[in-house]
Amino acid sequence: MNTVTVIFSIICFTIGFSNPGLTMSKFDIEYIAPCTENSWANKNNIKFYEEMSDELYDKLIKNSGIDKNEDINNVKDYILNVQSIFEIGLCRGRVVKACREIGYQGKFSGIEFTPSFCKELEANFPDLVLYEGDFLEFIPTEQYDLVMLMGSTLNAFTFDEQKRCLKKAKDIIKPNGFLIIDNYSANLKAETNPALPSSNNGFYTFQANGQYHAGYMSSIKEIHLITNEVGLELVSERQYAAGNDILRASLIYKLINKP
Ligand SMILES: C[S@@+](CC[C@H](N)C(=O)[O-])C[C@H]1O[C@@H](n2cnc3c(N)ncnc32)[C@H](O)[C@@H]1O
Repeated sequence: MNTVTVIFSIICFTIGFSNPGLTMSKFDIEYIAPCTENSWANKNNIKFYEEMSDELYDKLIKNSGIDKNEDINNVKDYILNVQSIFEIGLCRGRVVKACREIGYQGKFSGIEFTPSFCKELEANFPDLVLYEGDFLEFIPTEQYDLVMLMGSTLNAFTFDEQKRCLKKAKDIIKPNGFLIIDNYSANLKAETNPALPSSNNGFYTFQANGQYHAGYMSSIKEIHLITNEVGLELVSERQYAAGNDILRASLIYKLINKP
């Protein structure tokens, strides 16, 4: 090792230890948390998704503990009991595919704003009713038995955007329908969750493949507060151990009945 290499190694070592946010996680995704509330918006993440490699996609799904569709199996009874589903943030169709695999035969609709995912969805799921665009600007024409926000999609919105998103989600639920939010159990054990920054709930960003992804990790308590604010009532909270020792929760809501 020459002198230059030794000095360089010392500098890198010192930076790494003095700034834990820059330490690589065991999944090679760099977490830098927290970011500030005004530094990003939901839409800013399109670039990240658009440039996401297949390899990174698989890694993120695995890091989230749902590569065996643990989240779908946890709410299978709801899925198999409805005729129409709407998913917010379809991504590449993991949820549609998993619902079909467990035997769901009803209508499947959903929205996605990342153009490359929409192309893939069109090619791979001919019976999917796909809306390409931003859910926050979506003008719905129908209502559904079950609305789903799976794979921590709620975290893709800022806290204020989460309220707008859930208000819109509520508006597309049929009178006897349900909303399912699947998220990390961030209020329970975030510090032991390898997929999360150790800073617990709040704003975070991570960098992968040179692209930044920002998110807001609501605690389940916060999600209950917002859902209640927009007119949804908790029916059931199913905590479960997903893959990779990750604690997740399926939160199931129905419309609050007005007298
Ligand atoms: C965390 S991924 C979840 C993927 C999928 N729901 C799953 O469980 O496998 C979030 C997805 O939602 C999409 N998305 C985020 N915000 C959106 C919005 N406002 N409108 C439409 N799609 C959105 C992203 O492009 C991305 O594909």
